[in-house]
Amino acid sequence: MYNEKVLKVFQNPSNAGELQDANGVGTIGNASCGDIMKIYLKIVDDVIVDAKFKTFGCAAAIATASVATDMVIGKTVDEALKIKNADVVDFLGGLPPQKIHCSVLAEEAIHAAVEDYRNRQQAK
Ligand code: FES
Repeated sequence: MYNEKVLKVFQNPSNAGELQDANGVGTIGNASCGDIMKIYLKIVDDVIVDAKFKTFGCAAAIATASVATDMVIGKTVDEALKIKNADVVDFLGGLPPQKIHCSVLAEEAIHAAVEDYRNRQQAK
Protein backbone atom coordinates (compact mmCIF):
# COMPACT_ATOMS: atom_id res chain seq x y z
CA MET A 1 0.00 0.00 0.00
CA TYR A 2 2.81 2.47 0.86
CA ASN A 3 5.72 3.41 -1.38
CA GLU A 4 9.31 2.72 -0.28
CA LYS A 5 10.01 6.28 0.83
CA VAL A 6 6.99 6.35 3.12
CA LEU A 7 8.00 3.00 4.63
CA LYS A 8 11.58 4.18 5.12
CA VAL A 9 10.53 7.34 6.95
CA PHE A 10 7.92 5.44 8.96
CA GLN A 11 10.54 2.93 10.10
CA ASN A 12 13.04 5.61 11.05
CA PRO A 13 11.16 8.84 11.71
CA SER A 14 12.84 12.10 12.70
CA ASN A 15 11.70 14.14 15.65
CA ALA A 16 9.60 11.51 17.40
CA GLY A 17 8.97 12.16 21.07
CA GLU A 18 8.32 15.00 23.43
CA LEU A 19 10.03 18.39 23.57
CA GLN A 20 10.42 19.37 27.21
CA ASP A 21 11.07 23.06 26.58
CA ALA A 22 8.43 23.54 23.87
CA ASN A 23 6.66 26.90 23.97
CA GLY A 24 3.95 25.94 21.49
CA VAL A 25 2.03 22.67 21.70
CA GLY A 26 -0.86 21.60 19.49
CA THR A 27 -3.04 18.50 19.65
CA ILE A 28 -5.41 17.53 16.87
CA GLY A 29 -7.79 14.60 16.56
CA ASN A 30 -8.78 13.12 13.24
CA ALA A 31 -12.55 12.88 12.90
CA SER A 32 -12.46 10.10 10.33
CA CYS A 33 -10.23 7.60 12.17
CA GLY A 34 -10.15 8.92 15.75
CA ASP A 35 -6.34 9.13 15.83
CA ILE A 36 -4.44 11.90 17.57
CA MET A 37 -1.37 14.00 16.71
CA LYS A 38 0.54 16.20 19.12
CA ILE A 39 3.18 18.64 17.86
CA TYR A 40 5.71 20.41 20.08
CA LEU A 41 7.50 23.54 18.83
CA LYS A 42 10.33 25.50 20.37
CA ILE A 43 10.23 29.00 18.93
CA VAL A 44 12.86 31.69 19.46
CA ASP A 45 12.32 35.17 17.99
CA ASP A 46 9.59 33.77 15.74
CA VAL A 47 11.88 31.07 14.31
CA ILE A 48 11.13 27.39 14.96
CA VAL A 49 14.38 26.03 16.37
CA ASP A 50 13.09 22.57 17.27
CA ALA A 51 10.01 20.42 16.67
CA LYS A 52 8.86 17.00 17.80
CA PHE A 53 5.71 14.91 17.48
CA LYS A 54 3.79 12.19 19.25
CA THR A 55 0.95 10.36 17.59
CA PHE A 56 -1.47 7.50 17.97
CA GLY A 57 -1.85 7.57 14.20
CA CYS A 58 -0.96 5.10 11.49
CA ALA A 59 2.20 4.75 9.38
CA ALA A 60 1.08 7.62 7.12
CA ALA A 61 0.56 9.89 10.12
CA ILE A 62 4.01 9.03 11.48
CA ALA A 63 5.75 9.54 8.12
CA THR A 64 4.01 12.85 7.42
CA ALA A 65 4.68 14.15 10.94
CA SER A 66 8.36 13.24 10.55
CA VAL A 67 8.64 15.14 7.25
CA ALA A 68 6.51 18.08 8.39
CA THR A 69 8.55 18.60 11.57
CA ASP A 70 11.78 18.38 9.54
CA MET A 71 10.35 21.00 7.16
CA VAL A 72 9.38 23.53 9.85
CA ILE A 73 12.66 23.47 11.76
CA GLY A 74 14.61 26.61 10.81
CA LYS A 75 11.56 28.34 9.36
CA THR A 76 9.79 31.41 10.70
CA VAL A 77 6.36 30.83 12.13
CA ASP A 78 4.73 32.47 9.08
CA GLU A 79 6.74 30.31 6.67
CA ALA A 80 5.81 27.17 8.62
CA LEU A 81 2.12 28.02 8.38
CA LYS A 82 2.40 28.00 4.57
CA ILE A 83 3.52 24.34 4.49
CA LYS A 84 0.55 22.27 3.37
CA ASN A 85 -0.12 18.57 3.77
CA ALA A 86 0.11 18.33 -0.04
CA ASP A 87 3.75 19.53 0.14
CA VAL A 88 4.52 16.77 2.64
CA VAL A 89 2.69 14.13 0.58
CA ASP A 90 4.59 15.26 -2.56
CA PHE A 91 7.89 14.99 -0.69
CA LEU A 92 6.99 11.42 0.26
CA GLY A 93 6.17 10.56 -3.35
CA GLY A 94 2.45 10.19 -2.66
CA LEU A 95 0.15 8.36 -0.29
CA PRO A 96 -2.73 6.00 -0.98
CA PRO A 97 -5.94 8.07 -1.43
CA GLN A 98 -7.51 6.62 1.71
CA LYS A 99 -4.48 7.83 3.70
CA ILE A 100 -4.48 11.48 2.61
CA HIS A 101 -6.61 12.44 5.62
CA CYS A 102 -3.77 11.20 7.87
CA SER A 103 -1.40 13.77 6.37
CA VAL A 104 -3.70 16.60 7.41
CA LEU A 105 -3.07 15.80 11.08
CA ALA A 106 0.50 17.16 11.11
CA GLU A 107 -0.44 20.34 9.25
CA GLU A 108 -3.33 21.05 11.59
CA ALA A 109 -1.32 20.20 14.71
CA ILE A 110 1.46 22.60 13.59
CA HIS A 111 -1.15 25.33 13.17
CA ALA A 112 -2.55 24.56 16.63
CA ALA A 113 0.97 24.67 18.14
CA VAL A 114 1.63 28.06 16.53
CA GLU A 115 -1.67 29.34 17.87
CA ASP A 116 -0.71 28.10 21.33
CA TYR A 117 2.66 29.88 21.01
CA ARG A 118 0.96 33.13 19.97
CA ASN A 119 -1.54 32.90 22.80
CA ARG A 120 1.31 32.42 25.27
CA GLN A 121 3.13 35.46 23.83
CA GLN A 122 0.02 37.61 24.20
CA ALA A 123 -0.48 36.46 27.77
CA LYS A 124 3.00 37.71 28.73
FE1 FES B 1 -5.72 7.55 11.53
FE2 FES B 1 -3.97 7.37 9.59
S1 FES B 1 -5.68 6.11 9.93
S2 FES B 1 -4.01 8.78 11.19
